[in-house]
Amino acid sequence: MPHPLFRKKSIGTIIKDAEQGLGDSEGHAGGLKRVLTVRDLTFFGIAAILGAGSFSSLGGAIFHGGPGVVVLFVITAIACAFTAMCYSEFASRIPVAGSAYTYSYASFGELFAWMIGWALIMEYSIGNIYVAYSWSDYFTSLLGKMHIHMPAYLSTSYMEAKHAVARGTINKEILEAWNNAPIVGGLRIILDVPALIINVLITYLVFIGVKESRNFSNLMVVLKLAVVLLIIVVGGYLVFAHDLTANWNPSGKAGDHSFMPNGFGAVMMAVSGVFFAYIGFDAVSVLAEESKNPQRDLPRGMILSLVSCTIIYILLTLVLTGAVDYRSFDGVGDPLAFIFEPEHLNVGWMQFFVAVTAVIAMTSVLLVFQMGQPRIWMSMSRDGLLPPVFQRIHPRHKTPSFSTIVTGLVVGIPILFTDKTFVLDFTSIATLFAFVLVCGGVLLIPRKDKVAGRFQLPYINGRFIFPFIVLLAILLAWFFNPAYFGDLLRFDYSGIPDYVAGKTSFWDIAVPQISLIIFWLFAVILAVFSFMKQYSLIPLMGIITCSYLLTGMSKSNWVWFIGWLVLGLVVYFLYGYKNSKLNRGKVVE
Ligand code: ALA
Repeated sequence: MPHPLFRKKSIGTIIKDAEQGLGDSEGHAGGLKRVLTVRDLTFFGIAAILGAGSFSSLGGAIFHGGPGVVVLFVITAIACAFTAMCYSEFASRIPVAGSAYTYSYASFGELFAWMIGWALIMEYSIGNIYVAYSWSDYFTSLLGKMHIHMPAYLSTSYMEAKHAVARGTINKEILEAWNNAPIVGGLRIILDVPALIINVLITYLVFIGVKESRNFSNLMVVLKLAVVLLIIVVGGYLVFAHDLTANWNPSGKAGDHSFMPNGFGAVMMAVSGVFFAYIGFDAVSVLAEESKNPQRDLPRGMILSLVSCTIIYILLTLVLTGAVDYRSFDGVGDPLAFIFEPEHLNVGWMQFFVAVTAVIAMTSVLLVFQMGQPRIWMSMSRDGLLPPVFQRIHPRHKTPSFSTIVTGLVVGIPILFTDKTFVLDFTSIATLFAFVLVCGGVLLIPRKDKVAGRFQLPYINGRFIFPFIVLLAILLAWFFNPAYFGDLLRFDYSGIPDYVAGKTSFWDIAVPQISLIIFWLFAVILAVFSFMKQYSLIPLMGIITCSYLLTGMSKSNWVWFIGWLVLGLVVYFLYGYKNSKLNRGKVVE
């Protein structure tokens, strides 16, 4: 008998529960409509992936890393591809709503499952706050192009304005918002009204039903794909026509010309933004109960959408960094429109097109995540980890009504007191954490014989290959920089100007270094285990690549994330531990 914290649900029980709507006070939990095909799922994937990451956070990523950020896109794509294979394996074995949460319930047991479900709130709801802010940026600039001007204090987030003013910003819009905002009771009234309004509209759309949302989403995906391809073709042509290819080899702070002008460390600083751009392929898995043939179609939808977006990102990054010197992207929130401005490629009609598409692209991202979150909560509620009301299905619309409204509130309320950087980092760290656990979970579920027509993760014995890969990585790191491991263990920052000047604290520099040390130790331990247990290579690669991306996170990301996990533990022990169906002995394995 495992300890109650690690009690597991068997895969058979999970599927049976979903089919029967077990524990649903209204008897509707099994009542979602099965309407989605592989094309719908792929479109859903693209709808979720292609959004604020490429339209907005790409600018900051390029500013940090230069053209070399394309390497980070490739590394991240590889990490996501391994993870998508693991998600697919789970989705094919457990074709019910709930995503990584449900998968870890079957592999790691209840406590981990709860923590994953808790971390996924970051990915689905907090991630949508970033998208809503970016949507608002493009929407207001689109209104501006049509000569409709909103007061800046009604289209800026309070925290963004506050932090920027404290930093001494020269951004005119932010200063305008800060200086012109009405003051009530000593508090400046600054809020992002478009972000709030789009959240209300999306919540309504999700509330009234998946079919309506699906048609809307498919149309938006076709439009955004067409315009992104147009940007690549027109921008790419102009990079060569204007002979701008030297921008791919710019100079960095040290003065040398390179594809990575400020080194690989600077490229890794862009990890939150780049990873955020890929989040979304996994959202496909929460639609298991609404797809016609989930075992076959979910994996296909996930992998097809991921491959399409990877190709787009690589080309888009090359076009952007070719069109304009990477240093010009400082503070640019609309990089795809920016490259067509008069002082750069100078194509006026493209600027307008891009602004329209950005609004469309981000609307579809909002829609997918806002649909995903209630379905995860519905699964958690079925298991008794959340109150039964979370699984209530609307009798007419057949959607999880209460969960959908709560999602709207969880996205909407923080719009009043967070900012873009904070929510971007928070979303990326929590999602990477969930990815590592999903890949780890695949190692723990028993292998199965292949069933015709269903996806199965190919088993490649990692016994020798994985330790070889880890050894090779260590040798390469040492070969290219013989001081690498020595420097990693040295905590002497007396040569760093910002540290000496007191602008950066010891822990700000030490935390990324400590996470790298932990990463290498973890890689060696995993290599030993893979040798002993003959683990499957693909999940091992998923774990190691996603863990590596986690080393790019900063101290404050870790502090907030760990705080969030602790809060999750408290909620679990106050409610889920006692109310879990497994505790009540209804479906004990
Ligand atoms: N990948 C999604 C986006 O970029 C979350 O908006």
